[in-house]
Amino acid sequence: MASLPDPTKPNAITFSSGKIKVPPHPVIPFIEGDGIGPEIWKSTRQVVDHSIELAYQGKRQIQWKEVLAGEKSFQRNGSWLPEETIAAFKTYLVGIKSPLTTPVGQGRRSLNVALRIELDLYTNLRPIRYLAGAPSPIKEPADIDIVLFRENTEDVYTGIEFENGSKDATDVLTFLAQYFPDSYKKISFPQSTALGIKPVSREGSERFLRTAIGWALHNQRSMLTIIHKGNIMKFTEGAFLNWGYELAEKEYSRQCFTMHQWHLIAGKNGEAAANEKLKEARNNHLLIINDMIVDAAFERAITQPQDFDVIATTNLNGDYLSDALAALVGGLGIAPGANINFDTGHAIFEAAHGTAPSIAGKGLANPSSLILSSVLLLRYIGWNTAANLLENGLRKTLGCHIVTPDFAARLPSSTQVDTSAFAREIIQRM
Ligand code: NAI
Repeated sequence: MASLPDPTKPNAITFSSGKIKVPPHPVIPFIEGDGIGPEIWKSTRQVVDHSIELAYQGKRQIQWKEVLAGEKSFQRNGSWLPEETIAAFKTYLVGIKSPLTTPVGQGRRSLNVALRIELDLYTNLRPIRYLAGAPSPIKEPADIDIVLFRENTEDVYTGIEFENGSKDATDVLTFLAQYFPDSYKKISFPQSTALGIKPVSREGSERFLRTAIGWALHNQRSMLTIIHKGNIMKFTEGAFLNWGYELAEKEYSRQCFTMHQWHLIAGKNGEAAANEKLKEARNNHLLIINDMIVDAAFERAITQPQDFDVIATTNLNGDYLSDALAALVGGLGIAPGANINFDTGHAIFEAAHGTAPSIAGKGLANPSSLILSSVLLLRYIGWNTAANLLENGLRKTLGCHIVTPDFAARLPSSTQVDTSAFAREIIQRM
């Protein structure tokens, strides 16, 4: 569904026939966020505006529009996520947000998840790339250049859960006992069991995997690994993998070679023949699609992260794995992200980390994740000159060992600056 230009909103970014159209002064909604949100946003906004000014000298400029969510919104109008906020992201297509608090184990649902569901932002894009100067626990982080795609609207994240002892849980358990007695017998302690549902659909998986494969091909990447737990959760995670291989072989047969095909050839003509086909595919620069079970992927992420190129995985796996991979290139302080619906063009860019309440308001937060998320935003709207200036400014600052306290603690010979001084250092080096 394309979002048509709205004549009453001349500065809205629009999307039609797969192309994004950006006016010179687009309105971009932002959420300031909770905890460290306001301070990292302030620094980010300064460096983004400066990069645009340098690149286009007043001919282009973002008109930032604050929209409310989280604690600030609740205090002002009693709503955690007002309808107007969702409506603004729908109207203006592209937005950015700082982190929002989510209570654990009780209370309201995650606002982040709610926004992703409301706007159907089914792809979470997490680039994991090393910038020289960032601290890393491994010897050769420079080789790491991974792009992780995480399915963003299905899996256990849909939040369909039944609290133990509740009437709903009892009803579901009674239903299972009556209609699926074999499944019911697998529950060890039915009297005190809470339940969750893990929906994984063919449609949802296919649209997501199509995006990931399409992106890998467009960006001339050589390998895409589908990460799953299909050996245990056969009908959800296993199906996700099978649908991925099917889709690649059906829709991208000329551009991809899958390990599923390798196994078919090996079963029929032996491994040497299958390896020959694989070699041929590599020589012809086809995208190789393989798969890995998620626990093995975590081991590989630590021992040989260079083995990964593009990753496509289900929601929960992607949540865990993306943070683990981010740790290799500096950690959460430098982990950008984007939530995108590639069919409608809607996108919300956000740092991968949370609100870091223990350091909030002290100038200790690292704004790099939100700054790199803005670089993704600028590239998404095609403002590449500004994106390059901003990324280079950050690179040079890190390269001069000027860092915020989270990095300084791990880099003994660095110069420590606070959140706003870090932004000034970037501006000086753009
Ligand atoms: P967190 O990411 O806020 O913090 C984890 C650790 O990383 C802490 O030690 C924190 O100080 C540090 N850290 C995170 N970002 C940093 C930065 N920019 N600079 C320096 N240090 C940084 O995760 P946590 O503590 O699990 O969650 C806190 C709150 O954030 C929770 O309410 C959680 O639900 C929420 N959250 C929100 C997200 C979002 O809005 N997208 C994502 C993740 C968590």
